[in-house]
Amino acid sequence: MNKVQRVSSLRAAVQAARKDKKTIGFVPTMGGLHEGHLELVRVAKRRADFVVVSIYLNPTQFGKNEDLDNYPSTDEEDARNLAELGADLLFLPEQQTMYPGDLDEQTVVYVPKIGDMYCGTDRPEHFYGVTTVVSRLFNMVQPDVAIFGNKDYQQIAIIRRMVEDLAYPIQVVGVDTVRSEDGLALSSRNAYLGMKEMAVAPSLQQSLRDMADVLREKASVVSKNALKSLEDSIKTSLKKKGFKPQYITVCRRSDLKPAKKGDQELVILAAAQLGKARLIDNLEVTLGEVK
Ligand code: PAF
Repeated sequence: MNKVQRVSSLRAAVQAARKDKKTIGFVPTMGGLHEGHLELVRVAKRRADFVVVSIYLNPTQFGKNEDLDNYPSTDEEDARNLAELGADLLFLPEQQTMYPGDLDEQTVVYVPKIGDMYCGTDRPEHFYGVTTVVSRLFNMVQPDVAIFGNKDYQQIAIIRRMVEDLAYPIQVVGVDTVRSEDGLALSSRNAYLGMKEMAVAPSLQQSLRDMADVLREKASVVSKNALKSLEDSIKTSLKKKGFKPQYITVCRRSDLKPAKKGDQELVILAAAQLGKARLIDNLEVTLGEVK
């Protein structure tokens, strides 16, 4: 696996692969790679002939009091794991490459509405940062297919919207969340959990499963008031376990707007603070027709 820092070297390698009639797959990451990221690379290998992985800890998607400075970084181990999986090229851009000039004078890419809800309410600058850096990376790598984890459900929905609106000729592929045996979604931020919190953390996914059971048993619960009281009761039980829930919401898969009566393709999205870790998770639910 080759490693490059400059866009010119990245482009030369991608062009050489294209000359050999290879399709280009791309997995953007911020490093601190875990099994969830490695699964994205495996999927990229199946979907494309030449796989580029980027590691860039993007400052613009972190708020002022967030964990940019403490974000896990395991570059050497990451490179070893990527090489073992057969990634072809590791792109490690420096800040000057991604953002030449002052950060506050940069062009930003902003996807309204879908980027303003849920995590966008709690972390107002977050999705600007994500869409801005992903659009730059897309322009640098120019992949045919880009792979993202479905754990960041809202992120991938926003990126799909950006790709559609800005007419990127890129297929966006979502990969199922990788979980530990107890159901906890793998995340770089799980590194902030203490032993006791680790034991409690899987109850976030369990709460979503309980909620899904209620929705499946009683699809009539999909009305504004009934959903609100279901969401509130899940928040209360999470609080008792030590979480500080930020949102738990049942929405439509198509546009992430709050679910309405008759909607069948749903997803429950959740974010909750547990100790020093902000955990997010989701669960898709499909309801039968309400008669
Ligand atoms: O999901 C992530 O790790 C990041 O948001 C991404 C897509 C690499 C952009 O920095």
